[in-house]
Amino acid sequence: MAEFVPVDPFDLVIFGGTGDLAKRKLLPALYHRDKDAQFTDDSRIVAVSRSQIDQQQFVSLVREALETHLSEGQLDETVWARFSSRLHHSQLDIMTAQGWEDFAHTLDASGERIRVFYLATAPNLFTAIAARLGEFGLKDDRSRIVLEKPVGTDLATARQINDGVGAVFAEANVYRIDHYLGKETVQNLAALRFANSLFEPLWQRTCVDHIQITVAESLGVGNRAGFYNGTGALRDMVQNHMLQLLCLVAMEPPISMHHDDLRNEKLRVLRSLRPIDASNVSQVTVRGQYGAGAISGEAVPGYLQELGAEGESSVTETFVAIKAEVDNWRWSGTPIYLRTGKRLAHKFSEIVLQFRPVAHSIFPQASGELEANRLIIRLQPDEGVTLSLVTKQPGPGGFQLRSLPLNLSFSEAYSARYPDAYERLLMEVLRGNPALFMRRDEVEAAWTWVDAIRDGWKESDTRVSPYVAGTWGPSDASLLLDRDGRSWREPDAR
Ligand code: BG6
Repeated sequence: MAEFVPVDPFDLVIFGGTGDLAKRKLLPALYHRDKDAQFTDDSRIVAVSRSQIDQQQFVSLVREALETHLSEGQLDETVWARFSSRLHHSQLDIMTAQGWEDFAHTLDASGERIRVFYLATAPNLFTAIAARLGEFGLKDDRSRIVLEKPVGTDLATARQINDGVGAVFAEANVYRIDHYLGKETVQNLAALRFANSLFEPLWQRTCVDHIQITVAESLGVGNRAGFYNGTGALRDMVQNHMLQLLCLVAMEPPISMHHDDLRNEKLRVLRSLRPIDASNVSQVTVRGQYGAGAISGEAVPGYLQELGAEGESSVTETFVAIKAEVDNWRWSGTPIYLRTGKRLAHKFSEIVLQFRPVAHSIFPQASGELEANRLIIRLQPDEGVTLSLVTKQPGPGGFQLRSLPLNLSFSEAYSARYPDAYERLLMEVLRGNPALFMRRDEVEAAWTWVDAIRDGWKESDTRVSPYVAGTWGPSDASLLLDRDGRSWREPDAR
């Protein structure tokens, strides 16, 4: 059983503290860490919002959020008594200069608690909030600022935010969230690659034919339709989560797990990505949009229907597939195919390393297939790792081959609860370790690659291919691999 070490006393301020992210993710995550006794008695959580609610109403709101979002049996009255005594609400309209002095009084004045400002707001408020924090002298050299994704909507806006926040906070104190980096199975990628001597010699172009990274969702855009329609899958998923996964799979072994060693290696991958622009975008990318269909036997509306009148002629992509090439010595000639979409057949995320076939078969008469080995890293659900191996089927009747899975299921191996990504990320901020957060240069390199694809789509005549909800995306996505004599791995039927 792991030992939990408490973090130094803190004042954690959440801007957007009564919003959806705070209720669904941040407050439940903090409750779990408090339950494991990781907070000192004097540490506090201050929610900032425009809501006209008093202290009692705020505490009730948090109680309701925990009852809704914690799993059954996890709300413990003793822990709740401790947790609720940390909670404070401060009413503030970020856009005006009023109320900041009062807010300042809610914070510890002794200078002993570390201040963390978590911006769970729209990104267009990041710069204004950082400026006010500076103007009212609310930060010191140890204070940290956390920026929720997305940092900007393109390279130019990301730079504006980074400049604005950077004028007040040193880069070392800026924590840019990509919640995929807090997922246990994503961190496990580092363990798999660098804590086992087995894989690293094989982890390169001479042994790996290609890599597939899939993040499939079965949900539609739901009540985020307005936001999503101005964003699309490329900016919502590829610029951040998909590229971070690609970096972790493709990077060179860092010299240590120190945050800068790790992030330097990820940055090198981003800089090695072959640019995609108008000249090649139609050959190496596919964008799609779901129409009506059925998921798990239930009829679901199409994207345009979900948008209603405002989206009549929307060409926003809800699916994207990309053939990415990392132009360096390790990966030259081994493409990394990315695929993500909403309203696909079911939710699953995985990384597949497809190894090359054996150089020469000495089983020409064998029946059955001499399938090339495959390593499947399942990120969610059913977290685990599967390595396919070719075996001889027992018994007479000639030499028959069969590919069988060597399967490791994390839920069978570990009985512990899987902490939510935000638990890990919040603790890393409180500890002052930015390794699991995106550095400014990483975010900007990712936008550079993604912006060129978007410009390419605008300049060329690539179309948005329709797909039926509940399938694996448009047929063009299959063609993308067909052309290379490959195919997507479809997960086992459920
Ligand atoms: C978010 C995207 O960053 O990640 C959402 O904005 C997406 O559109 C979500 O649904 C997926 O996260 P997870 O943890 O459910 O895979």
